[in-house]
Amino acid sequence: MGVTAILGGQWGDEGKGKIVDLLTPSFSVVARYQGGHNAGHTVFVNGRKFVLHLVPSGILHSDVTCVIGNGVVIDPVALFKELEVLADAGIDTHGRLLISDRAHIILPYHREIEAVAEADRKDRPIGTTSRGIGPSYEDKYGRRGIRMQDLRNQEPDDVLALSIKENVATRNRIVGGEPLDWQPVHKDLVDWWQRLEPLVTDVSVYLDGVRRAGGRVLYEGAQGTMLDIDHGTYPFVSASNGTVGGVFTGLGVGAKAVDGVLGIVKAYTTRVGEGPFPTELSGNAGDALRDSGQEYGASTGRPRRCGWYDAVVAKYAVRINGFEALALTKLDVLDGLSEIKVCTKYRHHDRLVEEFSSDVSFLEQCEPIYDTLPGWDQPTAGVTRFDDLPVAARNYIAYIEKVSGAPVGLVSTGADRDMTIVRESSLVAKWLE
Ligand code: IMP
Repeated sequence: MGVTAILGGQWGDEGKGKIVDLLTPSFSVVARYQGGHNAGHTVFVNGRKFVLHLVPSGILHSDVTCVIGNGVVIDPVALFKELEVLADAGIDTHGRLLISDRAHIILPYHREIEAVAEADRKDRPIGTTSRGIGPSYEDKYGRRGIRMQDLRNQEPDDVLALSIKENVATRNRIVGGEPLDWQPVHKDLVDWWQRLEPLVTDVSVYLDGVRRAGGRVLYEGAQGTMLDIDHGTYPFVSASNGTVGGVFTGLGVGAKAVDGVLGIVKAYTTRVGEGPFPTELSGNAGDALRDSGQEYGASTGRPRRCGWYDAVVAKYAVRINGFEALALTKLDVLDGLSEIKVCTKYRHHDRLVEEFSSDVSFLEQCEPIYDTLPGWDQPTAGVTRFDDLPVAARNYIAYIEKVSGAPVGLVSTGADRDMTIVRESSLVAKWLE
């Protein structure tokens, strides 16, 4: 097993940052393939908290090279900020971060265009992270995006200047008000290139070389399956493919370049932003989960909507991504509950529904059908051996495996690296060898 993809099986915030960080010592390269600084991967190392948005969390390991693929949209200002935070923490990123020359750039006016689009949606906003992610992908697919490669052509009359002039004119039509001048935008890009140039390369060639030389690569997904532009709860999704298909297009690697897929699922479910969420808990029950799980967005600080584990969602994510194993995170958040519910089906009027639907209005009318399992009193926080878990917690995990359709190879029992159970002879244990 040389090359493994790790991605979220719910609506993001499953705790991927910690799991990637934990597995990283077994890999020489960690590569991000989609999304942008809308993601927030929180990692605790020796009690110190790092929140990474764009740079793969592998950067916290000094002998690992990190790659940002062409499928990622990059806000250079956000990137520089993150690199400064890492430098202040004494983490040397020099020569360890590569960016695809085909990656698209988020420009400051993308946020303004996003604000207009959200306002136009009136009663049905997406509830985006307001980072300009969607409009940047729109420019990419509208074939007017600015890529890293384009910054190599900087003369005033060149293609870069022409593209910016055209794009700023479009922005001025959409946003209205005081028109934006294209020249300062061009100047920013020219300035940013000074810092970006040493990082930018053809990452497809690089990753191919690593693989041929027997190096181990970990592909890190952002957001989650249910926020995928194709397979998520469209239109209440992010603008990229966080599912496994995104690895191939977002990094320029071939079909044989993934030989393991690990799905991260939280022991309950959360979602930030708008859109259907069949197991959402309102009132005290939802507030209690939010408080004990500290469920506030790592990027925006927004309170996350909380609810029980949804096996209809999990089964769907297992199918779409071919998860061979699951990492179950935040089990300890359920400590002390007298009972725990797991949704196994939905009811739509008098019909039972077992497969996740493409129709968000239909999903909004679905009621979850729960199985109720006994909770546990004994704390699981910090437990590192499966056999040391309370019986009810072990039964809960066995039940999750049964209803989700994939084995749980890893259980996270707290924020720190060490607060983890890796199950013997699981696929995860093999990936860690
Ligand atoms: P956007 O990615 O900013 O366009 O936001 C689209 C939707 O995806 C919104 O509901 C966001 O809250 C959600 N979203 C984007 N990134 C993340 C993430 O990293 N975790 C959880 N939700 C996210």
